[in-house]
Amino acid sequence: MSPFALTRTLPPDATTAALRADVAIGLTRTPKELPPKWFYDARGSELFDEITRLPEYYPTRAEREILHARAGEIAEVVRPRTLVELGSGSSDKTRHLLRALPSIDHYVPVDVSESALTGGAETLLAERPELTVHALVADFQYGLALPAVPGPRVLAFLGGTIGNLRPAERAVFLATVRSGLAPGDAFLLGTDLVKDERTLVAAYDDAAGVTAAFNKNVLSVVNRELGADFDHDDFDHVALWDAREEWIEMRLRARSPVIVKVPALDLAVHFAAGEELRTEISAKFRQERVYAELATAGLEPVRWWTDPEGRFALSLSVPVSLTA
Ligand code: AVJ
Repeated sequence: MSPFALTRTLPPDATTAALRADVAIGLTRTPKELPPKWFYDARGSELFDEITRLPEYYPTRAEREILHARAGEIAEVVRPRTLVELGSGSSDKTRHLLRALPSIDHYVPVDVSESALTGGAETLLAERPELTVHALVADFQYGLALPAVPGPRVLAFLGGTIGNLRPAERAVFLATVRSGLAPGDAFLLGTDLVKDERTLVAAYDDAAGVTAAFNKNVLSVVNRELGADFDHDDFDHVALWDAREEWIEMRLRARSPVIVKVPALDLAVHFAAGEELRTEISAKFRQERVYAELATAGLEPVRWWTDPEGRFALSLSVPVSLTA
């Protein structure tokens, strides 16, 4: 028997409603901006998978290396029965983690994409039929209502996706994580690290142009969902390192003056030649900053691991107990 349950905390039309709001706000403000979560329709998820195999895109490989080397230590610290994975996508990273954590018998993938969740669970259950999977369709930026699952639990947020959040959003997110942890539980966080600009920019502007296609895919999403008439050829992919904020920015730069119609919003959006639409920030971290932000949220790091080249870090934290 392999029990599988799926809970939606998002109504079926929530995605379109949220996209409408983000486009209405983001394309009428200066500078123009869209949140990165809209990259990930079926095509965007496929392109992201392709990105993770690019020679320039090191984070996925570096994180996998660390997970491979340290899963045994995670098991020693926590002995988890449940793995909760935020932003699990297709649960690709998870299969390895689960293999290395034999004490786990419950898995809770949390993602905004229902198709990714059901597809991922199927593959996983074929490999681990004794696993109870309770998939959660949710946007964890708006709180975490976890199903009742046995502890100890490991809550994992991998891939460096926390870098998509601004500092204030990270504080809210980490406080939410903390509130979801009980004594004995732990938080496993993947963070990409600050490094030389050339390496960073290459990871977001690869020679094969896959990241450019991924960036422009957000235009296709707005076209399909809101009837807009964005033309990929009107925009250039831009990736730049903001040394002050210590984050990568992806932008789409209009090649010439463009007017884009968004019929679902009764909107015409004007781009001046050279005007940019920001589509993603991907913050890079230093250990001190990760520790400081965890501490603010009431989380105490107990392990910090990097790959041998020091490109990426995994941290394991436990909730600070107020009574101990
Ligand atoms: C999935 C958010 C971790 O920021 O590196 C990859 C997304 N954007 N290439 C990242 C992404 C451009 C990725 N995260």
